[in-house]
Amino acid sequence: MKRVFFRILLASGVLLGSSLVVAASYAADVVGVPKPDAAKGEQLYTKGDAARGIVACMSCHGAAGNSTIASNPNLAAQPHEYLAKQLADFRAKNAKSAPLRRGANGANTIMTSFATALTPADMQNIAYYLAQQPLDPKTAATASKKDTMALGQSIWRGGLPDRNVAACAACHSANGAGMPGEFPRLSGQHPAYIEEQLKLFRSGDRANNPIMHDIADRMSDSDIAAVADYAAGLR
Ligand code: HEC
Ligand code: HEC
Repeated sequence: MKRVFFRILLASGVLLGSSLVVAASYAADVVGVPKPDAAKGEQLYTKGDAARGIVACMSCHGAAGNSTIASNPNLAAQPHEYLAKQLADFRAKNAKSAPLRRGANGANTIMTSFATALTPADMQNIAYYLAQQPLDPKTAATASKKDTMALGQSIWRGGLPDRNVAACAACHSANGAGMPGEFPRLSGQHPAYIEEQLKLFRSGDRANNPIMHDIADRMSDSDIAAVADYAAGLR
């Protein structure tokens, strides 16, 4: 139903300004679920759980979700629902199906085994903890490509109208901070990671969002590189 709703919004061209309505409809989904426990999430994130074979997430994603390694995404200040959804999407729903979120050429990502070790409550707790952590301005990524800044900005603000690509800002917010619900933050994210994810959406290896697939499918490698760098530098 939600996908259908999204498609209707896109088709009718009323997307701008309607994303808050969509976010509200997502928020309604979590009513009735027990409140996640940020303290338990922090414990698991920073220390892991040797008895259950869970590695400390911090070893790759950095203190409080501020990753200093470009290939490992920042997780700080991402919407809670977005993070919990990703952790669920990294694992296969059952023995016969592949995870919705895979890496290049359909291979499992490094996250598949880590996410498979977590219970649904662990996912909620870690996501809730990380959503409350601020992006560290000292380690957050910035834009570095002057030559492609104008192209990146124009895609971010206005999309690619001739190819029916909506403005990124409409869903990821003007300053790239994302929106409550399932719209992730891109500001301060490592540009190489943003670029890689857009290519994975395009190839269909990351198959957990049809809208992002359609958007990336209409973008060239140079469009993707330009907007990834621009988005990282937003604040
Ligand atoms: C060995 C390093 C490593 C460890 C340990 C690790 N991760 Fe990751 N994580 C990654 C990498 C690399 C990616 C990007 C995966 C991809 O390309 O799809 C990622 C992606 C993610 C994402 C998706 C982020 C986004 O913006 O969509 C989440 C959420 C996440 N990890 C949470 C965790 C949690 C929770 C743990 C601990 C239980 C953990 N990770 C442990 C390396 C790691
Ligand atoms: C109609 C709303 C919408 C528009 C427009 C949109 N996005 Fe997204 N985007 C999303 C949603 C929702 C997700 C989360 C998908 C998921 O569940 O994995 C997402 C995810 C992403 C991710 C993955 C983030 C991560 O941490 O892994 C990237 C990168 C991204 N979008 C870039 C862009 C860019 C660049 C544009 C503009 C060219 C754009 N998006 C336009 C809704 C949108």
